Amino acid sequence: MDCKIRPWQIEDAANLAAALNNRKIQDNLRDGLPFPYTTEDAKEYITAMLAADKEANYAFAITLDDKAIGSMGVFRKNNIHCRTAEMGYYIAEPYWGKGFGTSAVKQTCDYIFKHTDIIRIFAEPFAHNAASCRILEKAGFQCEGLLCKNAVKNGKVLDMKMYALIRED
Ligand SMILES: CC(C)(COP(=O)(O)OP(=O)(O)OC[C@H]1O[C@@H](n2cnc3c(N)ncnc32)[C@H](O)[C@@H]1OP(=O)(O)O)[C@@H](O)C(=O)NCCC(=O)NCCS
Repeated sequence: MDCKIRPWQIEDAANLAAALNNRKIQDNLRDGLPFPYTTEDAKEYITAMLAADKEANYAFAITLDDKAIGSMGVFRKNNIHCRTAEMGYYIAEPYWGKGFGTSAVKQTCDYIFKHTDIIRIFAEPFAHNAASCRILEKAGFQCEGLLCKNAVKNGKVLDMKMYALIRED
């Protein structure tokens, strides 16, 4: 069975918390998330996403048989970058390695290019995040370069990679 993407529902909070309450996931994301990550934290996130500007924030639950097994977000940039959006995602660890990350990235990009005026979707994984780099490549993203010493995570200075998918008209 393939995964799907759909808008968040407040009932997804427990499954979202179960996924994100995992250091292996949070170590690959930006800072600022609580750890441990509770169902209350998840409810807060889902409520914020449901209330967010629909022209700038595209947040989806990644689901399997309607159970949330991951999270996908595409966030429009502003000013001269208003037709560019950054993508972020994670899949709950028990579901890794089954093609769901790749499928969710592809489904999301199809949705964004079909329903919005966004022309560039980018993602910036840490250079050591082979799984994330791989799914972006499998979804057709181009690696545009290495962003040297672009982040500090858990006290370490890290390189990142810039991947982008450009809308073809
Ligand atoms: C990145 C992530 C979303 C991938 O999800 P997934 O459902 O496991 O991805 P898929 O099954 O579609 O594909 C994973 C690919 O990475 C490859 N891979 C996984 N670990 C790897 C490693 N250590 N080295 C090389 N390749 C690796 C797999 O072999 C597979 O490629 P293949 O199909 O060519 O064999 C998931 O690992 C995750 O949530 N990680 C933590 C959060 C994160 O990194 N988010 C992205 C931030 S930029």
